Amino acid sequence: MSSVPDLIAGAARALRRERLIDLFANDRSRVPRMTLEWGDWRVDFSKERLTPDALALLVAHAEASNVPHWVAALFAGEKINLSEGRPALHTALRQRNDTPLLVDGRDVIPDIRATQSRMRDISQTMHEGGRIGATGLPLNSVVHIGIGGSDLGPRLVCDAISAGPRAIDVSFVSNVDPEHLSRALADRDPATTLFIVVSKTFTTQETLANALSARGWLSAALPPSDVGRHFIGVTANVAAAAEFGIVRDNVLPMWDWVGGRYSLWSAVGLSIAIRHGYETFDELLAGAAAMDAHVRETPAAKNLAIVLGLIGWWNACALGHTQRIVVPYAQALARLPAFLQQLTLESNGKRVTRDGAPVDGPTAPALWGHTGTDGQHAFFQWLHQGTHEVPVEFIVPVRATHSLGDQQTLLVANAVAQSQALLVGRRGDELRRELAQQGSRGAALEAAIAARECPGNRASTTLLLPKLDAHNLGALLALYEHRTFVESILTGINAFDQWGVELGKSLAKPIVAALAENRPLSDSTDPSTRALIEHVRALKRTSA
Ligand code: F6P
Repeated sequence: MSSVPDLIAGAARALRRERLIDLFANDRSRVPRMTLEWGDWRVDFSKERLTPDALALLVAHAEASNVPHWVAALFAGEKINLSEGRPALHTALRQRNDTPLLVDGRDVIPDIRATQSRMRDISQTMHEGGRIGATGLPLNSVVHIGIGGSDLGPRLVCDAISAGPRAIDVSFVSNVDPEHLSRALADRDPATTLFIVVSKTFTTQETLANALSARGWLSAALPPSDVGRHFIGVTANVAAAAEFGIVRDNVLPMWDWVGGRYSLWSAVGLSIAIRHGYETFDELLAGAAAMDAHVRETPAAKNLAIVLGLIGWWNACALGHTQRIVVPYAQALARLPAFLQQLTLESNGKRVTRDGAPVDGPTAPALWGHTGTDGQHAFFQWLHQGTHEVPVEFIVPVRATHSLGDQQTLLVANAVAQSQALLVGRRGDELRRELAQQGSRGAALEAAIAARECPGNRASTTLLLPKLDAHNLGALLALYEHRTFVESILTGINAFDQWGVELGKSLAKPIVAALAENRPLSDSTDPSTRALIEHVRALKRTSA
């Protein structure tokens, strides 16, 4: 008898030869069999290159790979981040009840509640004009300084939720390029600006450089002894924050057991609470908790995170796709592809398993995307007629959160039309009739058909949400977190470390010293890097 992996490989071989549209003709109940519902969400994966039978094999594979066991271990706070000996307990941050959750024998829930209460106080005081700066004026605008996981999540959420009339202005500064900070400061008044410096380690070069420049900007305008009022730190390294000059009372904790890219639910999300109000932040947590409950309690075949994770694994590992595209049809989700890039590629862009053995096959495909409908006027040409076939994920909030006429209908219609176009394409015989009627003949007709023909037969999943509010957004982000975890289990890798990022960070240090202080390069510096550094030095000398 064949093993499940052999059967999966056989199914993939067979399905590669099929036209997707024929799968619908062969199975009249394909759509309901390949759609999942969760409340008023609908996830339609009937346009994927997959059949219900192949999906059943994948579910068997998930069970054989112990996916339910690993999901339970994540929620229980087991040390599943093996290379760092830590749990990955972002789900604890959105737990709604106070059931104890132990890490090294200590219940983490009271610490979480205490931090949430401080976040609520800070955001309420800001909204009431009661947080006072060095000159006695209320602090009423925020610059959030952080990078990677200390930036992408809160930035996405601040942007995604419609700003109410009382929303506080928040800018995000991540890049060490001074342009980023200087643009954020351009229209700000030092007397009324609060900086939130978010860094789990408080050693990240970009964040510290921006925080130092921010302090310089404040000190030039305010009594230097009072600029501390203008800083809040969010970090697991309280000592480094204190050394930077942030008083202990102004430091909110991060914990070892939450990874940076999973941390928006912690005090890293303070900017969300300040901008939109703590109630909105709490609603985000509630939405994520609802998705957690679904993922924790639902059998694999009906579990959104497991099924989407399986489809991701199938596309990458069984069908061999090296890319994956996410297209949110919502301007508010413009930052979602960037957030998902860090979430999925920093989590699963690895080549060895948890125990250090080479992974048997590919891991995370490259992920990119852009909002619809803008993307339609950029890379969709490539999707419809290019030589690569890349599975697309459409994310479509159906109801508008504003009242600008019928534009929302146009937006949603375009999303659905694009998924249809990828499936059905545009056939040569139809084109031949049309063009011949217009008088085209011979070689000109053949060339016109070839240029216009769209092969179709390209896979996609469509996720329909009722609307984009804090609750649904929380659930959506939690779904993607869990799906990413499921994919890591299927490939056997640790989704919660990121040793690859460390290399670039450590190599930057001697190059900074070489450029800033003219220090000599080590003999082992490779010739290309050495030549680039020499050229930069020369350019700096000539522009001095
Ligand atoms: O990009 C690498 C990384 O280590 C991420 O994992 C993390 O989110 C980011 O840097 C920022 O780190 P920190 O919060 O410690 O400044």
